[in-house]
Amino acid sequence: MNSRIPGFYTEDRSERLSTVVERCDLDAEAVDALDADGAVGETVDGLSENVVGSVSYPLSVATNFVVDGEDLLVPMAVEESSVVAAASKGALLARPGGGFTTDTDGPYMIGQVQVADVSDPTAARQRVLARADEIAAVANDQGVLVSHGGGCEDVTVRVVDTPAGETVVVHLLVDVRDAMGANAVNTMCEAVAPVVADATGGRVSLRVLSNLADCRLARARCRVEPAALVEDEDDPERADGLDGETVRDRIVEAWAFAAGDPYRAATHNKGIMNAVDALAVATCNDWRALEAGAHAYAAREGYGPLTTYEVGADGDLVCRIELPVQAGTVGGATAVHPAGRAAMEVLGVEAADEFAGVVAALGLAENLASLRALVDEGIQAGHMKLHAENVARQAGAPAGLVAEVAARMVAEGAVRESRARELIEVLG
Ligand code: MEV
Repeated sequence: MNSRIPGFYTEDRSERLSTVVERCDLDAEAVDALDADGAVGETVDGLSENVVGSVSYPLSVATNFVVDGEDLLVPMAVEESSVVAAASKGALLARPGGGFTTDTDGPYMIGQVQVADVSDPTAARQRVLARADEIAAVANDQGVLVSHGGGCEDVTVRVVDTPAGETVVVHLLVDVRDAMGANAVNTMCEAVAPVVADATGGRVSLRVLSNLADCRLARARCRVEPAALVEDEDDPERADGLDGETVRDRIVEAWAFAAGDPYRAATHNKGIMNAVDALAVATCNDWRALEAGAHAYAAREGYGPLTTYEVGADGDLVCRIELPVQAGTVGGATAVHPAGRAAMEVLGVEAADEFAGVVAALGLAENLASLRALVDEGIQAGHMKLHAENVARQAGAPAGLVAEVAARMVAEGAVRESRARELIEVLG
């Protein structure tokens, strides 16, 4: 197979698909699967390059959420079983205490203009600061942010030690309003480069936003009574299970584990991002930016967890999260992709700061439910049920038999396609 395909990008989508079919020897089933989305396929063609088809994710809705006093259904697109169930469970735990309360910083993104070959970085820094108003004005001549009440609000300068020597870095602090802001900020960075070069006498190199969006933080809080943390809410002292206070204390202990050990913190935060990314994918937001921002923020003082847990004065579990949320509600792929637009309608949120609050609440709900399960019955019980159902479907179980085949495989501890086929024979 030769991967060199001159002019591939100039072909239309069906021609490109034919080329791939021929080169990769795809059968009709594979072609149908790649081309299944019909009209949406045409839309996504313009979102990326060399498009040959589209991939569908399950679009789910997490239930039980109350965020800042409003009930919400949260759209989530994710292929991993248990993620949506955990988000819904976390929201259910928070619900009796009023759900999630959120707050956000202004929608500020940082743009970076890097200057190399500066002979006296400290003096150059002063010269840039002296021209800060001029730099902000050039930035604000670009695009539409100013007419929407946003724009470049501050110019700062850092001198950064790098393996290649000191480099001067000019930061534009940009209020991006309800946009994600990457395009606007990148445009501004490129536009101010000549002024920055003139002021520093150096060579402007990189001109691009920073995904460490630590001026665009979102926070969420909730509290949970210990009794709600055990599976059977009417029986907080189950004979065969842990009582609510013990589960609460072990959640705090699990947080402390993440706070002390980056190996655990990575998994702890991965769980949070399971949910955050799923909302981002459902609404066609840039989940890679959210990922980069979250992990960079988590690493600011040595890598640690994005959430904290403590026991409140009344004995409730007090849960908090803080993370950068660089996501918009206007423009971007959300405006183009019909499913992304529809997901935003399901959520019913219009302003980017409200959206950021939901992102934080969702991440906290996911983490709360994960930790609750991890310190009590473990996560495999829930995972296994869904996994077994998938195995049953793959083995050809008809819809009416999936649950029973799955339940038997789980009970037997034999979740395998071969066993599923045997059970389909017996039960079918
Ligand atoms: C699995 O995708 C996510 C968890 O491992 C998160 C965690 O351990 O906190 C369950």
